[in-house]
Amino acid sequence: MSDLAGTNILILGGGGREHAIAHALSRSESAIKLHCAPGNPGIMALAQIHDADPCDGPKVLDLCLSHGIGLVVIGPEAPLAAGVADVLRAAGIRVFGPGRAGAALESSKTFAKNFMRRHGIPTADFDICKTPAECESAISRRKPPYVIKADGLASGKGVYLPDEAREAMKICAETLSGKTLGGAGKTLVIEDFLPGRELTVFAITDGTSYRLLSPSRDHKRAFDGDRGPNTGGMGAYSPVTLPGGLVKLVEDDVLRPTLDGLRSDGIDYRGVIYMGLMIAEKDDGRPGISVVEYNVRFGDPETQAVLPLYRGDFARLLTACAEGRVDSCPDTGSAGAALCVVLTSDGYPGQFRRGLPIEGLGLEKNQQVNGAFVYHSGTALDAAGRLVTSGGRVLSAVGTGDTFAEARDRAYALAASISFEGMRYRQDIGGSEE
Ligand code: AMP
Ligand code: GLY
Repeated sequence: MSDLAGTNILILGGGGREHAIAHALSRSESAIKLHCAPGNPGIMALAQIHDADPCDGPKVLDLCLSHGIGLVVIGPEAPLAAGVADVLRAAGIRVFGPGRAGAALESSKTFAKNFMRRHGIPTADFDICKTPAECESAISRRKPPYVIKADGLASGKGVYLPDEAREAMKICAETLSGKTLGGAGKTLVIEDFLPGRELTVFAITDGTSYRLLSPSRDHKRAFDGDRGPNTGGMGAYSPVTLPGGLVKLVEDDVLRPTLDGLRSDGIDYRGVIYMGLMIAEKDDGRPGISVVEYNVRFGDPETQAVLPLYRGDFARLLTACAEGRVDSCPDTGSAGAALCVVLTSDGYPGQFRRGLPIEGLGLEKNQQVNGAFVYHSGTALDAAGRLVTSGGRVLSAVGTGDTFAEARDRAYALAASISFEGMRYRQDIGGSEE
């Protein structure tokens, strides 16, 4: 691989995940220059910000050509599903992120489930339903809790787990009619409920070789004790203590069959595969795994806890991935522990206010405060240049350390030093590790 010195790297997206990606890239040994569209006030300290819609392929291509961009790193799922990577690759630009065909692993649950069935990858048994009668039949053959998933992208709102068959049928009827999720819900996956504990594993892959990042776990429910509504993610930690042999099981039973399947389906995949897994003890006492979902991008907020632990040169890894040469990067692995606490607006994931001033430590210039740092998600600068809230998930307070306890204490100390009106966060992130 050529030396990266002087390379312009464009990150698409503007949340906590993209801030963590920018931060990881900025630690490269090579003197790279970072750009981000649309970015956020935190990313501004690390990258030149551009006002462009990440889903507009031709616009992004113009931006690349006018700024001599050598690598584009696509953060969120929407531009991937829209085929922005295809537009850029066709113009000869290196891209980290799959094209539209690979993105279907996330943008269509029916594609992903059929893919897993076809390639023998462990996942919950399922039916694909397009009519209320098909849903009724799928529900009557299962036990509660019922698992109903909209086929298309629904910003984390497309999965339902009702306990009652009648409620399940009502959800099916509403989503099939297009009332709740529009076109995304016109086809449904109804599948068996998987007991166990969830785990997230990111593999950086060029479709053949891969590097695993540190395993993580996120916390989706709004309130302590995993109660309340599902959110985009209230916190995460990494690494997760795993039963012996589990990582090998993930590689042997999920990752390699996934890569083989993609190649045999003629899909050139370059980017990250997010494996959302359920781990459960089997009858013989050994761990068993099933795929709950694939995502074709880094998770948010897992990324904020995973990337600070990566020991290699992240810019080199992503560039090598885009060039189809992941195996040219040393397998440096990860070290230490990190924990991310998401600071949210009062009312999230429901209605919340915007424009509330934020005060506290470490909010500027990616300042480290005792091994902890802040990533911005829903923040903005007001007319007077003050930092204010602009979203439900506002900031991620990330603590790092040699041990889990150190990382957690640092993350919570940082969270407690930040304030805005109505700020709320979970007190029990990483609780499952104790
Ligand atoms: P997904 O978007 O497919 O990851 O689903 C969102 C969340 O719903 C997952 O993170 C799980 O907590 C839960 N979930 C999804 N599918 C299942 C399943 N088959 N069994 C148990 N929980 C599930
Ligand atoms: N943290 C879950 C996701 O990014 O989909």
